[in-house]
Amino acid sequence: MKKILTFGTFDLFHIGHLQILKRAKALGDYLVVGVSTDALNFSKKQRNPICNQQHRMEIIQELKSVDEVFYEHSLELKRQYIIDTKADVLVMGDDWQGRFDEFNDTCEVVYLPRTPSISTTALIEIVREIT
Ligand code: CTP
Repeated sequence: MKKILTFGTFDLFHIGHLQILKRAKALGDYLVVGVSTDALNFSKKQRNPICNQQHRMEIIQELKSVDEVFYEHSLELKRQYIIDTKADVLVMGDDWQGRFDEFNDTCEVVYLPRTPSISTTALIEIVREIT
């Protein structure tokens, strides 16, 4: 069984999120998703996600392509998460191109092209403009 691992915040779940999870699953048989915690997001972006970590995880968990979820508490634990989940492939969007190549000694690292013209940040901006 080929295990795929990917990570993300998946705030305001959108088509780009769905596409990457579907394409990640298509690379193997079992998809594990690390959903980043609110605290991790706050430390990266100085703001909390719009949807809290329980809600974001619940949405991801219910998707047909997703087999298992866990909380990503720290960016520093990536290697440990790869080992713990026994992942064969780490999938990231190509906004992360090259930044996870160091894990090539533990698993295959694949960067998938992002779905164009949509992001959580863009959605927040659109709503801001409307209001
Ligand atoms: N992703 C994608 N295509 C998009 C947006 C996101 O393939 N248009 C992928 C990212 O590359 C990542 C995963 O979805 O692998 C989760 O991304 P996340 O950062 O949660 O979503 P973004 O919409 O990029 O959020 P933000 O604008 O806050 O960076």
